[in-house]
This record gives sequence, structure tokens and C-alpha cells, in this order.
Amino acid sequence: MPPLFGSLNHAYRGASSDFMGPDPSFISTSANNGEREHFISSITTNVTSFFREKHHFDLLTEKILADSNDVKRSLNIWSAGCSSGQEPYSIAMCLLQALPDLAARTQILATDIDVAILRKAEVGIYTRKELMALPPAFLGRSFFSSIRNAQSDEMQLQHKIRNMVKFQNLNLNSSWAMPVQFDIIFCRNVAIYFSQTTQERLWRRFVTALRPGGWLLIGHAERIPPELHSILRPNGMTAYQKIS
Ligand SMILES: C[S@@+](CC[C@H](N)C(=O)[O-])C[C@H]1O[C@@H](n2cnc3c(N)ncnc32)[C@H](O)[C@@H]1O
Repeated sequence: MPPLFGSLNHAYRGASSDFMGPDPSFISTSANNGEREHFISSITTNVTSFFREKHHFDLLTEKILADSNDVKRSLNIWSAGCSSGQEPYSIAMCLLQALPDLAARTQILATDIDVAILRKAEVGIYTRKELMALPPAFLGRSFFSSIRNAQSDEMQLQHKIRNMVKFQNLNLNSSWAMPVQFDIIFCRNVAIYFSQTTQERLWRRFVTALRPGGWLLIGHAERIPPELHSILRPNGMTAYQKIS
């Protein structure tokens, strides 16, 4: 995969205090990197699952990807606040399952503030219980391999899926700038922990990070306020499209 996303800022350096949980002001002052990582990891909520809020994956396959199939350029997708990787890997599986040709020219960036959870995501090992969330059509596919230890209750995502996702450490409230515009941004169950002001700033920054006509998919308890609907048009359940 070309290093398209190589120039991202790293998350917690210069972090704003408005991220999940209380104000961790010492993060950017006294703590060393290890302490910072540990502290961030201890206060973040990493709950996630494969195909969480499945209606977004139906929308992805049936409408967004289907409409993009004729596009000759590469497709850029961002999973912002990706936790342990189930969200970007679900996106990758949808692509491979529905449109393998498009999958070959799609780049999936997955970012999170929590370095420890990104390490887990990169390895792509999940328990059989975690895999129960996969729709039957995906369980039957050869996307996972058993781990050598026969006692193990875990499976690992195959290289062909893992290689589709590029993980990076990023605090959404730091001063990031993206080197590309995205066709789709998933930012689900992340901004709910931010203040209204920080949420609105983030939505506006996502508008800049999206291509005209690009999609922003957010969590079930999150909403884009009506005053932004002239730039982010509601188009489905917690789905918004940047006005072209
Ligand atoms: C509840 S999980 C949601 C995971 C996934 N998006 C989903 O809906 O299943 C929230 C994730 O957001 C991350 N997060 C919280 N604050 C963040 C910030 N300021 N920048 C980037 N990621 C953040 C957490 O580390 C956590 O992994």
C-alpha cells in the first residue's frame, strides 16, 4: 500500500484536553510516553464489535460501494476511533466480499488515540466469541485462520484483510491534517464523549476531510446538528453526505 497516510500527526502530542473522560492535563506536561500511553489506555472506552450497527455496513455494500464501483481512482476510507480493529476490518471484509476489484484499489486508514488498543488491532487476533458477531455470510468465508496452538480459543485475520488496513495513532482533537480527501469516514461512538463545542468542531473538520459527495457515518447516539445540514445532508440512519 502506498504510504499515503504517512504524514499524519501523532495523537497525543499537543493533545487538547477535550477527549474521552476527565481532563488529563498532565498528559502533555509531566508524563513520559509510556505513562501517557498507559493513562490514555486506562481512561478510554474501547467497546466495539464486528459489524456493530450493521445498517451502516448494509448501506456501505448496497449503496456507497455499489455507486463507487465505476470510479477508476482509488477509494479512501477512514475509521476514526477504530478501537481494536473490528470496525475497519468489517469494512475490509465487506469490500472483499462484494467488490474485490474495488477492494484492490481501496485504502483504509484506521486511527485511535489509544496506542495499546492499536497494537491489538494490528495483530488481528480475536476470540471465537468475538467472531460470533460476524454475519453468517462472512463466517463461512476464509477470512480467518486458526492459531497454531490447538488449545487456543482465538483466530487470526488473514494477511489479505490485515494488509488492507493501515493503523495510525491519532488524537482527533489534535491539530491533524489529512493528505487525502476521504470517500467515507466512519466515526462512531467516539464524539459522544466530547463536549458539544468539540463535537461541532470535529464535524466541520470532517467536512474538510471529505470529498464532495463523501459520506460521514456516526454512532447511534450521535447527531449532526441541524445548522450543519446545509453542508452535511442527512441521508439514512446516522448517515450524512457532504454536499457536492
Ligand atoms: C467506544 S470505542 C468505538 C469503536 C468503534 N468506532 C465502534 O463504534 O465500534 C471509542 C474509541 O474512540 C477512541 N477515542 C476516544 N477519544 C479519542 C480521541 N480524542 N481521538 C481518537 N480516538 C479517540 C477510544 O480510544 C476508543 O477506542
